[in-house]
Amino acid sequence: MGQITLREVRKSFGATEVIPPLSLEIEDGEFVVFVGPSGCGKSTLLRMIAGLEDISGGQILIDGKDASALPPARRGLAMVFQSYALYPHMTVAKNIAFPLRMAGMPAEEQDRLVENAARVLNLTDYLDRRPGQLSGGQRQRVAIGRAIVRKPEAFLFDEPLSNLDAALRVNMRLEITELHAKLESTMIYVTHDQVEAMTMADKIVILHAGRIEQVGTPLDLYHNPRNLFVAGFIGSPKMNFISGAPAAAYGAHTIGVRPEHLDVSTEAGLWQGRVTVAEHLGSDTFLHVQTDHGQLNARLQGDIDVYHGDTVWLTPNEAIMHRFDADGLTMK
Ligand SMILES: Nc1ncnc2c1ncn2[C@@H]1O[C@H](COP(=O)(O)OP(=O)(O)O)[C@@H](O)[C@H]1O
Ligand SMILES: [Mg+2]
Repeated sequence: MGQITLREVRKSFGATEVIPPLSLEIEDGEFVVFVGPSGCGKSTLLRMIAGLEDISGGQILIDGKDASALPPARRGLAMVFQSYALYPHMTVAKNIAFPLRMAGMPAEEQDRLVENAARVLNLTDYLDRRPGQLSGGQRQRVAIGRAIVRKPEAFLFDEPLSNLDAALRVNMRLEITELHAKLESTMIYVTHDQVEAMTMADKIVILHAGRIEQVGTPLDLYHNPRNLFVAGFIGSPKMNFISGAPAAAYGAHTIGVRPEHLDVSTEAGLWQGRVTVAEHLGSDTFLHVQTDHGQLNARLQGDIDVYHGDTVWLTPNEAIMHRFDADGLTMK
């Protein structure tokens, strides 16, 4: 089991409150991603769950039992960090077995668990190597292996892919998603990258200044953001926001239109503008358009014949337009 409940947990460092009272339910087997800008409290919250950081108030329940005061080793959770923290002089096998050796497990049992973990992570052929003889992605897998052998109630990941290059990040993202499908364990994954959150999560928790802005499935958040912050954070390129007269015409303080929901014409439309940058990716074309209502970005499928300096007209798809009131809350 790996069910985790946060009940009004909070955290202050001295006089500074970093996490105001926060409540959250994490179901057994769920892949939950904490996402938000740098400094919003993601690592602090994860470390509170792990027991690496005291909580200033509230309760943490693991499988229904109060774990708030338990030391990290007794919470049954395993943490994987951005820095792999492997022992350079030990082989991969010894690195993975490290927590088992510390716990005094018999050698044959250690070997069996290490072999299993290595199989799951495609590390079988590398067990005799040392970390220095591995790629970044392989090192990260060793760190995950060390977590797997402990059979934790839940895995906690803190930005585990940040040190990898872009291609490897995409690979490891898939591997961790597959690992979750194989193990069916609870995973809590911290990242500032909304694409990682969208592609990996069963449930996304969006944090901003220590508060939860919204909790939901990736597509929930994409289609039904509760406020301007979530609307602007989820989706790439970012949602366009327009205030003033165009928004008033739709009875809103601000309207939001995703770049993929703007129709582009070289002949007619609602908002006229000039293309300042046209990015042709082959699969998509991204247009940056200067209009009377500010710069708007449009995303078109395929290779579109529009270039820098062209005049275009943009028309929002009204059916999937987002409307926000003066407080930045989504209007019904
Ligand atoms: N040990 C600490 N002492 C004081 N402030 C801290 C400490 N750790 C984190 N903070 C502050 O708490 C806030 C959240 O930090 P953190 O959880 O690391 O954010 P994130 O992981 O989302 O980037 C930041 O403002 C940070 O400066
Ligand atoms: Mg962090």
